[in-house]
Amino acid sequence: MTDSIRFLLCAPDHYNVDYVINPWMEGNIHKSSSDRSVEQWYKLHKIIKEHAIVDLVTPQKGWPDMVFTANAGLVLANTVVLSRFFHKERQGEEPHFKEWFLNQGFIVHELPKDLPFEGAGDALLDREGRYLWAGYGFRSELDSHPLLAKWLDIEVLSLRLIDERFYHLDTCFCPLTGGYLLYYPPAFDSYSNRLIEMRVPSEKRILVAEADAVNFACNAVNINKTIIMNKVSDDLKLGLTTVGFLVIETPLSEFLKAGGAAKCLTLRVTEPIIPDNKAKVLVESRTIRMEGHLLDAGLINQALDLIVEGGGSFKVLNFNLGEQRQSTSLAEVKVSTPSHEVMEEIMSQLIDIGAVIPTEDVQDAKLEPIKQNGVAPDDFYVTTIYPTEVRIKGQWIRVQNQRMDGAIAITEVDGYIQAKCKVIRDLQIGEQAIIDIAGIRTIRKTESREKRNQEEFSFMSAGVSSERRVELVVEQVAWELRQIHDRGGKVVVTAGPVVIHTGGSKHLASLIHQGYVQALLGGNAIAVHDIEQSLMGTSLGVDMTQGVAVHGGHRHHLKTINIIRRCGSIAKAVENDVLTNGVMYECVKNNVPFVLAGSIRDDGPLPDTQMDLIKAQEEYAELLKGADMVLMLSTMLHSIGVGNMTPSGVKMVCVDINPAVVTKLSDRGSVESIGVVTDVGLFLSLLITQLEQLTRPYSFVAKV
Ligand SMILES: NC(=O)c1ccc[n+]([C@@H]2O[C@H](COP(=O)([O-])OP(=O)(O)OC[C@H]3O[C@@H](n4cnc5c(N)ncnc54)[C@H](O)[C@@H]3O)[C@@H](O)[C@H]2O)c1
Repeated sequence: MTDSIRFLLCAPDHYNVDYVINPWMEGNIHKSSSDRSVEQWYKLHKIIKEHAIVDLVTPQKGWPDMVFTANAGLVLANTVVLSRFFHKERQGEEPHFKEWFLNQGFIVHELPKDLPFEGAGDALLDREGRYLWAGYGFRSELDSHPLLAKWLDIEVLSLRLIDERFYHLDTCFCPLTGGYLLYYPPAFDSYSNRLIEMRVPSEKRILVAEADAVNFACNAVNINKTIIMNKVSDDLKLGLTTVGFLVIETPLSEFLKAGGAAKCLTLRVTEPIIPDNKAKVLVESRTIRMEGHLLDAGLINQALDLIVEGGGSFKVLNFNLGEQRQSTSLAEVKVSTPSHEVMEEIMSQLIDIGAVIPTEDVQDAKLEPIKQNGVAPDDFYVTTIYPTEVRIKGQWIRVQNQRMDGAIAITEVDGYIQAKCKVIRDLQIGEQAIIDIAGIRTIRKTESREKRNQEEFSFMSAGVSSERRVELVVEQVAWELRQIHDRGGKVVVTAGPVVIHTGGSKHLASLIHQGYVQALLGGNAIAVHDIEQSLMGTSLGVDMTQGVAVHGGHRHHLKTINIIRRCGSIAKAVENDVLTNGVMYECVKNNVPFVLAGSIRDDGPLPDTQMDLIKAQEEYAELLKGADMVLMLSTMLHSIGVGNMTPSGVKMVCVDINPAVVTKLSDRGSVESIGVVTDVGLFLSLLITQLEQLTRPYSFVAKV
């Protein structure tokens, strides 16, 4: 027996599974045998007594889980931080444990009432005493960790638990003598696993398989070279004995029904201080503010989810719903993370959804000079489609040319500061790029439910439209097109060859002819197949009136390319009366600019196809400027390209037969984009019919 080591235990006089506060308790209410639990507890008590001194706290009626003394508090030398239980079912244990510690002469620290922390269940000292591993995620709050560091003057390493079966750190993590660590890695998030690997060398890490983990092998009591646990596989036992440990198994099945085993049933109350250790905590906290129709737009849930999923925790400091239905709400949320790195990652995502740092905490944006043309600094801020402002020399400056996946370049000429969104390749020496996330805010329009429902694009609120809703969608798109047309606005169409194969050519040509389209973006194929249809009546060799493949038709598109190449360009083919109808013909005749961006699979290409992709991107961006609406018709490649270049606020309609493509393209988190899952030929034909109804008697049938 080791005289200097003491453990606190509590006899199982009132132990039972009376409620469900963890997955182990489910289905086990009142199913534990009191005789067997007493027998198992006394066996454990006897084993511990052979290795250390045992102190007892008096069990209390009505508090069945008091038997799990690991959750009484966290002890270091003569100081204890008492537990603040997360569940009310255990909160009544707190005064009894407090009394015991006071009677023993401990210095007692108590956390604020709304800051859960479950003692040595969620905080385990490295057995060399170098630092404290502290868990969070289910029972203890991350915000308790800085207080542990302060009160116990020790470095705290925060670990996030992600498997609810392992709700306390001591259910899946057990520091052992000699710097060894017994643990079950899948119970932790990737950041925590990285932290463990950084602190514990691989030869000292003893990994536990799931079969052992669910037998609570990690919920072990370690006294010098002895490890006491419920059950262990031969493999794990061998691993532990090989490095010099003696494993003692003692059945604790009755306590597993409540989600605890050897370690949970004990609290080591003698933990020496290592003199050189000083308080250090990596936990960082920041406050963010969000304003708008946060509930209607689902933004507050999105923000809280991304904090937790990113490995942080939050506290809502203030949530003002607004007095009336149309009022906006305001939320102030404190975000805590286990490290600066995790904070940066979460904050950048929060900024993207419109969160702002309260004015009093706002700093200027961080700038770093461009050192090589076309290369950004490592930590450059990646832009979104949302209007963005950056704070430079105390002034908020609106970023121009907003687009997704760019960098923000800052120039200053004669004291005039300009912020521009640029793709990496366009960055120039002499400019500075914004790095990090300080001094950046994005402006998100968060419409109220009422406003959403009034929007012409209200069907968006129900997500991607299904077939039965296509007609309604078409009606609304037609109405919108008509309005843009009447006020002299701009509609850009991006279209793939499927438009032609599905018989949509005449409808798209008609839209262009009637002035509903101000620019056309696509690839080589839309033009080739459109012109093939105009010249030969086929699209990819299929007769468009009969729907059958014509003899030798597979060469038609190559012959088409050859004819246009001979003319020199599509415009020249129109000029020479070689091309007399169709989509491309209407573009030329009506002065509708088009860009055909090349791709690796292009045949020919047509002389108009821009094979320099950087130029093609620039030409796309130019034609997209000032667009009110982008109509994306069955081309994943070109539509994704266009989506990345287009800032929020531009209405987008994406038509594709594949729901996955539609979801990807329309999921921009704004009400302006919608997806329509349908055949593009059908969509265009319905659209023309709707527009004819809106414009009668002026309807015109394009020459096709
Ligand atoms: N001969 C050629 O030169 C040639 C031929 C084909 C493609 N290309 C080039 O390859 C690139 C990619 O071509 P892409 O845009 O056709 O392919 P893509 O795969 O990017 O997009 C085609 C989209 O059409 C959808 N679709 C299929 N049938 C549909 C229907 N009936 N109604 C609605 N949507 C439907 C698909 O789900 C898909 O998302 C382009 O640059 C194109 O110019 C060149």
